Order: sequence, then structure tokens, then C-alpha cells
Amino acid sequence: MSKKPVRKAVLPVAGLGTRVLPATKVMPKEMLPVFDRPAIHYVVDEARAAGIEHFVFVTGRNKASIEDYFDTAYELEMTLEAKGKTKLLEELRADLPAPGACSFVRQQAPLGLGHAVWCARDIIGDEPFAVLLPDMIMRAETPCLAAMAQAHKVTGGNIIAVEEVPMEEVSSYGIIEPGQRKGDLIEMRGMVEKPAVADAPSNLMISGRYILQPEIFDALEEQKPGAGGEIQLTDAMLKLMETSPFHALPFTGETFDTGSKTGYLRAAAAFGLGDPEHGAEVRRILEALLKG
Ligand code: G1P
Repeated sequence: MSKKPVRKAVLPVAGLGTRVLPATKVMPKEMLPVFDRPAIHYVVDEARAAGIEHFVFVTGRNKASIEDYFDTAYELEMTLEAKGKTKLLEELRADLPAPGACSFVRQQAPLGLGHAVWCARDIIGDEPFAVLLPDMIMRAETPCLAAMAQAHKVTGGNIIAVEEVPMEEVSSYGIIEPGQRKGDLIEMRGMVEKPAVADAPSNLMISGRYILQPEIFDALEEQKPGAGGEIQLTDAMLKLMETSPFHALPFTGETFDTGSKTGYLRAAAAFGLGDPEHGAEVRRILEALLKG
């Protein structure tokens, strides 16, 4: 079983963000600010903290600003330097991925998450890799992907993060069929994408962080459309499970689903409240708003 280190991550960012319109009409949803930085920034930071060295963004039309965000902003840097704003400049530079550490590949048609991941196959090659769904921002002392990478060093195979959801919400997610608990991990017996409540094998949802073996690309190549008429990653993982073990890691931190308007608001408030410099002021503002 492959225990090669996980060095590369796929970030599918081709989605249209229709649930956040009109904000996403000309701006990628991944670039909408969550307090003081775009949502995608948090997700790339989480990947970095797990030791990821190469980021593969699966993009689409109108997503060029993501590419620019992870590049040097020459004029901005020169201006900050000329004005002596060295702290800001250092922060911007520290956030920049290493030269050559980002790849961008286009998903030419919205055929589903499975298809988006498959679009990264040539850049990933023959090694295990991570997938991070940027709608989900996760906050924890040990970041979610770092905990998964740690577990992967021991068990190898495939690992996905899961979280409990209220039973009435299972049809919005991929849901796993859990087997035996093994330490921090749960052996997986199956999974299903967006099941009806009556058919759901548990209330453990697939929460948007995966470590997968490269054989997933063979399964994706053959995968027929499933739930919602889309090529689903969950269906291809179920196929891969026939030959390669899957474990679930229950995530115990906080998850912010920025796929909706209120989800953005919740995330922005939480990260604002947690900001060392502005947290106290954010609290005052929120309390005053609530008092009316
Ligand atoms: C995707 C996955 C699903 C997962 C969810 C997490 O669904 O297909 O298995 O539970 O992300 O957000 P989507 O939200 O793209 O419909």
C-alpha cells in the first residue's frame, strides 16, 4: 500500500458560485473576502501546513484573478517598498507560493467534481495527492489536512475527512458507510453521494478534504454521471474501494461552508472575532448590531 508522501494538492475552483450571486457575477467565489483575505487563501494555508508543495488549481473561465492572487503584484510591492510599508510587504511576500509551485488547468465544461479532479491527472502523475474543496474553510489546532497526512503516513491508502450532520441534511452531501473504529480512524465500507434520508448509511458527511491514491484517475476515466447528472468523485472512490483501502478521519474542529451567502457571513464573523488585532472591535460591532 502506497505510503509515499503527499506532496501535491488539487483545488477545484471552476464552480460558478450561483448560490452567492450577484457577488460572483464577475468575481470568482473563491476570491470573496472572508474577513481580510479571500476564501481560497485559508485553504491554501491549510494545504501548506500539511506539507503540500504543489497546488493544482482546476479553474474555468473568469477565474484569472485566482492565478494573479498567487503571483507577485509587482507595482503594489514597489509602491509599498517606496512608502516604507515593510511589514505589509513582508506579509504579502511570505504568503506567496514558491516559484513553480502552482499549476492551473482548465475544466472546460461543468461536468462535476469527479471530472474536475480528473482534469489534474497529468500534473499529479503517479503519487498520492490531496483534494481540498475550497467552499469549506476548516479551523482547528491541528489543521484538517495535516491530521490526515499524519494518519496517511501510518496507514497509507485513501483517507477522507468526515463530520456528523443532522440526519435531515444528508441529501446535500456525500455520506459514508462506517465500519470499525481503529484509533482516530474509521474503516470505511461504502459511500453514497447525496442519498435520500431513508437510504443514508450514516450521518457522517464527506467534508471536502481527501487523500487519494493515483488509481482514482482510472476510476474517474470510466465513471458515468451519477447524482445531479454529474461525474461524482464519490462514485469513483466507491469503485477504487474495491482494490484500495479507505479510512475516514472524523474532523473535530470548526467547518465554515462558504458555498452560501450566510455561510460567508458566518465565516467572516468567526475569523474577524478571532483576529488578534481587530477581534475586540469586531465583537463590539456585532453586539451593537444585534442590540439594534
Ligand atoms: C461535494 C462532494 C460531496 C461532499 C461536499 C462537501 O458536493 O461531492 O461528497 O460532501 O462536496 O461540501 P457539492 O457540495 O459540490 O455538491
